Amino acid sequence: MPKPLALVCIGCGARAQTYAELAARRPDRFTIAAGADPVAARVEKIRRISANPRFRAFANAAELLAAGVLGDVALVATQDNHHDEHCRGALARGYHVLLEKPIATRVDQVLAIRELAARLDRRVMVCFVLRFAAFYRKVKEIIASGALGEIASIQAGEGVMPWHQAHSFVRGHWSSAKAASPMILSKCCHDTDILHWLADRRCLRVASFGSREFFRAERAPAGAPARCTDPCPAAADCPYDARRYAGDMRDPWLGMVYDRAREAAPEEILEWLRTSPWGRCVYRCDNDVVDRQVLAMEFEGGLTATFTMTAFENGRHIEIYGTRGVLKGGETHRRHFGAHLVLLPHEGAPVRYTVQAEDGGYELHGGGDAGLVEALHEEMTKPAGRPLAAGLDSTVHSHIIAFAAEEARATGRVVDLADFERAHAPRK
Ligand SMILES: NC(=O)c1ccc[n+]([C@@H]2O[C@H](COP(=O)([O-])OP(=O)(O)OC[C@H]3O[C@@H](n4cnc5c(N)ncnc54)[C@H](O)[C@@H]3O)[C@@H](O)[C@H]2O)c1
Repeated sequence: MPKPLALVCIGCGARAQTYAELAARRPDRFTIAAGADPVAARVEKIRRISANPRFRAFANAAELLAAGVLGDVALVATQDNHHDEHCRGALARGYHVLLEKPIATRVDQVLAIRELAARLDRRVMVCFVLRFAAFYRKVKEIIASGALGEIASIQAGEGVMPWHQAHSFVRGHWSSAKAASPMILSKCCHDTDILHWLADRRCLRVASFGSREFFRAERAPAGAPARCTDPCPAAADCPYDARRYAGDMRDPWLGMVYDRAREAAPEEILEWLRTSPWGRCVYRCDNDVVDRQVLAMEFEGGLTATFTMTAFENGRHIEIYGTRGVLKGGETHRRHFGAHLVLLPHEGAPVRYTVQAEDGGYELHGGGDAGLVEALHEEMTKPAGRPLAAGLDSTVHSHIIAFAAEEARATGRVVDLADFERAHAPRK
């Protein structure tokens, strides 16, 4: 019987709680030894989830790391701009790391973390949960079966969904590229990763266009106040009315940003919205990240790929064009066409596939959380030298695609990835 891995949580917010709940279902594989977060109620949530009488609580990452080595793997689930400091700290202290994406918010930091982990001989698994989702595993399996022949092109899209865009990228944690990171990194590094993982080769060049067109002051309805809690002439017809956090948008959105989301009465939530960032009019925030972006990519061997991110669609989609057939699938197929994926051979009958996530949840993403935790024990204990399923060897390149795409968007140039990586490599 393999020994359970002891996890410590650096950051005990929404993501840490999700992973902790999944890990706690497998006491044969995991124990949860400690948690650190300035919000004590969140550490207490992890303590409760852990059911570990010896669980140790800390007020922040520095205190946890100063307390010695309390486990085998540190889950770094703080906000994006803390990943660099907390991941380095955990590696230096002696932990292997399960690191939330993005690895870090600057390309030089990402490359330096790869170097540090290699130097210290520690494992870093990045939470690219889509690699572990049933849907993308099926896509990978169909490609590997040869049913598509040789892959010529891939077209992928991510519809963030208007409310999600407003919640996270207009009002929320990832609205400012400077305070967090550009959209293509904070949200779509999942997509550059999936493209890289499915293409199974390196990206050579990228071009990109995109902007923030909709969520800006000029688009505000006449007379709209700064906050939805003040009388607004457009409220009845506005899909972004923040008062919905006290109604149909309470679950799951409010719970991600308000600790008392479950038990609070509507009046308490409305009072909170008067001062919270999530109570602001979506046209009057300090957001600067894009609400649309496209990428055109060339991979080794001439494989081409395009990617569209838009606030104004719901869910991910993919089309893969091969010399023997085409594979199409994603959220629209799941919801409206009765199958997740359809394989259309150039000659012969179509084949439909449905996939079921291990946790029965939302197949394109939710199942990925469970799949990642399912894989974690094996990943962290597999023999030395064997590549990890989402280790730095492959996931750093997925980040380079995103950083290079942002450079391409900002400058209007086509960016060569090898040159870009060289230019940002840590100095010896
Ligand atoms: N893999 C995915 O699909 C996915 C999905 C959503 C978010 N994320 C990423 O996960 C990370 C966490 O997101 P979240 O939604 O859980 O955020 P969150 O804000 O709920 O959690 C972050 C926590 O870190 C805590 N914190 C701040 N400073 C700290 C310190 N010095 N020491 C310890 N804790 C500290 C905060 O108090 C907060 O509780 C982000 O990087 C985000 O981009 C990944």
